[in-house]
Amino acid sequence: MKPKKLSTESYKGVRDFYPQDQFLQNYILGVMKKVVERFGYVEYSASILESAELYRGKTSEEIVNEQTYTFTDRGEREVTLRPEMTPTIARMIAGKRHELPFPLRWFSIPNVFRYERPQRGRLREHWQLNADLFGVTGIEADVEIISLAAAIMREFGANEDDFEIRINDRETLREKFKDKELIKLLDRKDKMEEKDFIEAWKKISDKMPDWTIEPGKKVSDVSEILEKRGVKTVFAPTLVRGFDYYTGIIFEVFDKNPKNNRSLFGGGRYDNLLELFDESPIPAVGFGMGDVTIRDFLELRGLLPTYRPSTQVYLVPVAEVDMNAVLEVASELRKRGVNVAVDLTDKKVGDKIKLADKNSIPFAVFVGEAEISSGIYKCKDLKTHSEQSLSIEEIAKSVKNL
Ligand code: HAM
Repeated sequence: MKPKKLSTESYKGVRDFYPQDQFLQNYILGVMKKVVERFGYVEYSASILESAELYRGKTSEEIVNEQTYTFTDRGEREVTLRPEMTPTIARMIAGKRHELPFPLRWFSIPNVFRYERPQRGRLREHWQLNADLFGVTGIEADVEIISLAAAIMREFGANEDDFEIRINDRETLREKFKDKELIKLLDRKDKMEEKDFIEAWKKISDKMPDWTIEPGKKVSDVSEILEKRGVKTVFAPTLVRGFDYYTGIIFEVFDKNPKNNRSLFGGGRYDNLLELFDESPIPAVGFGMGDVTIRDFLELRGLLPTYRPSTQVYLVPVAEVDMNAVLEVASELRKRGVNVAVDLTDKKVGDKIKLADKNSIPFAVFVGEAEISSGIYKCKDLKTHSEQSLSIEEIAKSVKNL
């Protein structure tokens, strides 16, 4: 019997990024990075692996009990593939709290892992921009973080009416509902049938749910300042956000298109998380923005760019030209910063051009004996089909303008 062939499918819930996908991924993460850097955030990074105990008790029961990838290593240590970045950054900051110059603005775009049922907008591995501001107690920090979230949306080309920023305050929730179980239930409200929700509610509370809640002073103040800066927010009394560590203002950005009516990303204030490592807390506020939900958002609105490979020039040897001379031309172009792929096939010239076109390479340069002796090369713009004869210097210049 022949051995069974392996499947070419990737592991459930994770993605392969073929060049076209990687291009979009680079675009999305690139926009995120550009905007956070504009706001003065600097990049940090850490390992995917964390000790499992980092997540126990202080983050989210659902994530820790049902969604982490945890295994025991060869030294009997329990290890978790990070399901989020917040405990990691808290650990890193706590570790150097006496040396670090607060306030700190840090960002990272890690891949994180959650054992969820894969569905639209939810996968088992995603990349997540984390932007966090440490060391500021006042609402200026909450305002900055929400402005930053809105600025990223605008940089992607989104209109104000494409999305809605919902905002609430954990403190108001605690005062109003007191019981932690009620708040947890509230967090699951949108995933439940109304009658099931009310039934579960009655089991915990003798009062019926009542959403006639006024925004607290913090929510009003933050919203007012943001409004003045052109960022609209909506008070959302039932917004909870899953993690236990949030202590104050929380927010979530929602897609308003009915086809993708879901939370795109969110965050909030978590002033006590660093107590896990030390006696004294450090105020913190930040958010996590996933690549999957934003990609759906952009796709739905035609806001994703068309694919362009990083290769700028396809070098096409013509007739019996000496390959060493062709490679020399490639070197000269590369020295000038041009990304060059050399055709290595024995196809006809027309088919070589087709190959370049199929790979979306924008520019073909033909190299034959005549070109090598004159130093002037026939070139073809594969989009406009226009042809010109150019020197190496001119090729380098015109490729940069493409
Ligand atoms: P989170 O709401 O769990 O927050 O995740 C942030 C974002 O990551 C989500 O809004 C969504 O865009 C994306 N995301 C989460 N899970 C998945 C999934 N399974 N598949 C695809 N995308 C997903 C946090 O993780 C907090 N640590 C964020 C934070 C940073 N708060 C303060 N600083």
